[in-house]
Amino acid sequence: MTNILRISAAGALLSLSALVPAHAGDVAAGKAVYDRINCASCHGADAKTSIDPSYPQLAGQHADYLAHALKAYRRGQANAAPSANIRKNAIMGAFAVQLSDKDIEDVAAYLASLPGGLAVRR
Ligand code: HEC
Repeated sequence: MTNILRISAAGALLSLSALVPAHAGDVAAGKAVYDRINCASCHGADAKTSIDPSYPQLAGQHADYLAHALKAYRRGQANAAPSANIRKNAIMGAFAVQLSDKDIEDVAAYLASLPGGLAVRR
């Protein structure tokens, strides 16, 4: 009986930890990354008002999407074999290679926390 209780308690803990993202980024550290690399010089101080309409809005996008995009630019810059997981872009590649995995998770969390103009229309 006690063993059964122990096992189910362990199971409950495991399923709870599965709900917490593995690498939840640090919003304050992410703002520091955004400032240090001066991402605002292209994407805008609010990450929404970019200097050119072809430069994407970052504010309010999903953190996992942003992190995936940044890692894809980094792989593209490192000349990884072409796949769906790389992005070749001379501008963003040059910035993405300056970011560690932690920088990416943090800046993605920061950008996702900002109010964005993007919405799903149904
Ligand atoms: C010199 C201008 C410039 C700077 C500085 C810059 N970016 Fe970008 N960024 C771009 C452009 C241009 C694109 C679109 C590239 C493409 O077509 O793939 C882009 C795309 C992105 C994307 C993909 C967004 C999406 O919706 O897919 C992310 C994420 C991003 N930038 C984050 C950053 C971060 C974080 C920094 C600072 C570390 C930064 N950028 C600095 C110009 C810049």
